[in-house]
Amino acid sequence: MGQPLVLRSVAALRAWRQQCRRAGETMGLVPTMGALHVGHLSLVNRIRQEADRAVVSIFVNPTQFAPNEDFSIYPRTFERDLQQLSEIGADAVFAPTVQEMYPDGFATTVTVAGPAKVGLEDAFRPTHFGGVATVVSKLLLQALPECAIFGEKDYQQLAVIRHMVRDLDIPVEILAGLTVREADGLAMSSRNVYLSPEERALAPKIQEILQGCAEKLRKGSAILAAETWGRTELAIAGFEVDYIAVRDAASLAPVDEPRPGQSLRILVAAKLGRTRLIDNIAAN
Ligand code: PAJ
Repeated sequence: MGQPLVLRSVAALRAWRQQCRRAGETMGLVPTMGALHVGHLSLVNRIRQEADRAVVSIFVNPTQFAPNEDFSIYPRTFERDLQQLSEIGADAVFAPTVQEMYPDGFATTVTVAGPAKVGLEDAFRPTHFGGVATVVSKLLLQALPECAIFGEKDYQQLAVIRHMVRDLDIPVEILAGLTVREADGLAMSSRNVYLSPEERALAPKIQEILQGCAEKLRKGSAILAAETWGRTELAIAGFEVDYIAVRDAASLAPVDEPRPGQSLRILVAAKLGRTRLIDNIAAN
């Protein structure tokens, strides 16, 4: 398939979007920070089933990284990304500069609460979801797609975006993509390249321990006991645990005693050396 159209400015994106609309075509947006892997590509494949045209944004968004985080070393593999996107038939790539997204004098941000303030990622990355919400609202308003897709891999992010779109009446349908994993169960992530061979060998333990936790809950274990088991197992395996928590799958609020029929999600963030990994699964 042909190389996707590369759009560098908001004006170019809008002109292309207009052209598609005149042709009666719908558009789906896949926001990414590049360094694309099969997980990202699965989102593009899914959006292609939902919309006539697929646009992928590639933008390493500085405002969602804290000063001590990995913005400057975040992997940037634009040519390879384009190659992969042409193989699966993405129609366009929107790859703006930081200046294009945040011109001098930029002074307006989106503040999020609800699922963005539940003591999970937000407790460890307090400025993160404000940056995500701001850039995602900009991308949605720039592209005005009929639908946009986000991965369950970043489960809290997905919840924050769904909530924001509802609260701000942004006219877009938000779709969720299942987490794509390596053969050994490790959730694919652009950050997995930071792992040393030893760390990479240990990393699938996260998924095993999540499964173990879910199994315990299915067998009637109390939530606190399952969380404590998971935290201990992760520590024994050599992880530095930020959190492992069983939450309401929709609101991400803590749960003492599950109500009958309540959907639960188990979410984890843990460090292996300097690399921070996150993952989550359905608990029931
Ligand atoms: P990034 O980490 O590049 O992820 C882009 C999208 O791919 C997100 O929706 C993420 O949940 C999804 N994704 C990542 N790994 C996945 C996997 N293994 N399986 C399925 N989907 C996966 O998330 C971001 O970028 C940014 O915060 C962004 C939303 C683009 C805003 O800057």
